[in-house]
Amino acid sequence: MCGIVGYNGKEKAIEKIVTGLEALEYRGYDSAGIAYFEKDTIQILKKKGRISALKEILPKKDAQVGIGHTRWATHGEPSERNAHPHRCGKFTLVHNGIIENYLELKNILQENGYSFLSETDTEVAVALLDYLYEEEKGVLKTLEKAMKMLRGSYAFGILFEDTPDTIYAMRHSSPLIVAEKEGEEFIASDVPAILSYTQEYYLLDDFDIAILKPNKISFYHDGKEITKEKLTFEGSLESSQKEGYEHFMLKEIHEQPRVIKDTIEYYFDGTKNSLFQNLPDLKKYQKFHIVACGSAYHTGLVAKSWIEEIVHLPVDCEIASEYRYKQVFYDSNTLVIVISQSGETADTLASLRKAKKDGIDTLAIVNVIGSSIAREADQVLYIKAGCEIAVATTKAYSAQLALLSLLTLKLALIHETIREDEFLEIRKQIETLPQQMEKLIANPQYQKIASTIYERDDIFYLGRKLDYAISMEGALKLKEISYINCVAYPAGELKHGTISLVEQKTPVIGILTVSEIQEKTISNLKETAARGAYLILISNEEIKEGNELILLPNIHPLLEPILAIIPLQLLAYEIAKLRGCDIDKPRNLAKSVTVE
Ligand code: F6R
Repeated sequence: MCGIVGYNGKEKAIEKIVTGLEALEYRGYDSAGIAYFEKDTIQILKKKGRISALKEILPKKDAQVGIGHTRWATHGEPSERNAHPHRCGKFTLVHNGIIENYLELKNILQENGYSFLSETDTEVAVALLDYLYEEEKGVLKTLEKAMKMLRGSYAFGILFEDTPDTIYAMRHSSPLIVAEKEGEEFIASDVPAILSYTQEYYLLDDFDIAILKPNKISFYHDGKEITKEKLTFEGSLESSQKEGYEHFMLKEIHEQPRVIKDTIEYYFDGTKNSLFQNLPDLKKYQKFHIVACGSAYHTGLVAKSWIEEIVHLPVDCEIASEYRYKQVFYDSNTLVIVISQSGETADTLASLRKAKKDGIDTLAIVNVIGSSIAREADQVLYIKAGCEIAVATTKAYSAQLALLSLLTLKLALIHETIREDEFLEIRKQIETLPQQMEKLIANPQYQKIASTIYERDDIFYLGRKLDYAISMEGALKLKEISYINCVAYPAGELKHGTISLVEQKTPVIGILTVSEIQEKTISNLKETAARGAYLILISNEEIKEGNELILLPNIHPLLEPILAIIPLQLLAYEIAKLRGCDIDKPRNLAKSVTVE
């Protein structure tokens, strides 16, 4: 949700900032801008659209200090006027986040003679700095005072006209890192922006301020200078590059066998008696709340089904933006599990904070190391997905499922709800997962099926129980990258209204992995076929009823969803490709949703 980059060094700042912004473009891409020092004055250039459009207007100047921004619009349409950086007086600023009290502050500032050119909350923030500077006189003091007045989330990169060798940065509830390498200094919203220079970085905490001067970075918190620990990014530069794949999404789909292997191996050692490692003690918990957004919520639905069916314990799975505001019923034996790839999703973070405030134990399943959710949860389990760049999640989704399947297995052993022979069989099958995934990825059917249905306006996904949870993710994948209107329905529910939308050749994708209700789902699918639907079945059994069948390996229900999602990801990918969509950067979306 907006990407920020800043550079302070001896090299060409404009080029460095643009390279960094390109690595962060997945965070937002409706407009972009840059500010740099030319002698002692700050120049600003902005452009609606992608960074490629901004590049066309950038001068070949030897600036050494600057900041840049790639935007995902929150306040005001994508336009040059609303694009960052914004300037007021001597301050120029780029922002990721949302200032919640910006209208209140805007009124105060207007009463004090300020006027505004854009519709953004960011312009209010920069005007506030200018206003406070009049009283405080020092930049550091001004930033500290502003922190006390701003509500909401922000990561700021700031230039001040009187200090042309300096970048200021501060954050609250939006990520920001600082890095240095041989006289070059950087700020960035995420690690990919700095990986071509260094893998080491400092992570700003809430209410930290960083001041980057030549060869000296200082950190402040609560008015005092502090030291910060240097962190090392575990992945490589290649992990944030396409490595020959046409799209990041395709690359990340292909990475899944490795990611699943790494995730499972970190938490489960089938050769040892102890079996599980690095997992928390779950004995005390009798009830679970799983809270997340989007695809992460869909993994929660799968886990709900697993834990309820296999462990026989109750699970509430809730969308975080609802959970944070609803009446929640927990007791001392409840564990709240939040799931998030980015670890920065605003609603998931708020739900976590709500549970913590109520004194309930929390566990986070997260991909991005050191992210806000990871740091704030009582316990954190990292999936081993590495950098996920495509906006549509794939490898993080399946790694979350893999980890949740292990948690379920551990609970089943604790509560003795699984027979030994069944457990031994699962243990054997876990090892075969990466290989099974590879085979499914290599299946040549997806392109052909995609070419039959890619021009349709509506597509339905049907399934029951676990299959319904998988359908939801399949439908989300397709709609977000292809812009086809698709819905997932519990198979038995369609005839209560929605079946009226089925026409001749409407594609209906049936997920059929749960054997005990397979016949029921098939009957529902046939009801749609009787009304002209084109049936695509994804099943672990040879079913003759449909127009197309994608055959899954037959594996334990605890592992099946990890495989069943692959055909759905690749179908979505092939359809979006045939429709000429921008697969890695779908319209209106951004990777990390740090606003409510
Ligand atoms: C869909 C997708 C989103 C995210 C959701 C939560 O492909 O990526 O639905 O799953 O925005 O994001 P995280 O997992 O970062 O909390």
